[in-house]
Amino acid sequence: MERIARIGVSLPENLLRRFDSILSNRGYSSRSEGIRDAIRNYITEFEWLEQEKGERVGVVTVVYDHSVKGITDSILDIQHSNSDVISGTMHIHMGRNCLEVILVRGDVKKIKEIAEKLISIRGVKNVKLVTTVGEDHF
Ligand code: NI
Repeated sequence: MERIARIGVSLPENLLRRFDSILSNRGYSSRSEGIRDAIRNYITEFEWLEQEKGERVGVVTVVYDHSVKGITDSILDIQHSNSDVISGTMHIHMGRNCLEVILVRGDVKKIKEIAEKLISIRGVKNVKLVTTVGEDHF
């Protein structure tokens, strides 16, 4: 049996209210159960960022303001210079903003570099990276 640790957490009431409301809608029996799940998700999302080696398959989503001068070129330049890692893209126009979905496969370090370069471009509003481990890990 896994040993259980107890922790005390301070948080804003509003945050707790919103968390509780999601727990109740999703049918959680206790706050502890919800917090355990939230922590597991957090770990899954960020643990890989600590890794410096290995192959990953994933998706980078970029939301940007396409009225910013030169932004499309900057994004395309990054894609061209990383064509060995990028397997494809998809683009959705959303009024002033655009959503670009970039499929990536390759070294985790290189994928991280691409995401970091994209977020540093002026006019890029949001970059999200979702990855999974390569096939040999399953
Ligand atoms: Ni567009």
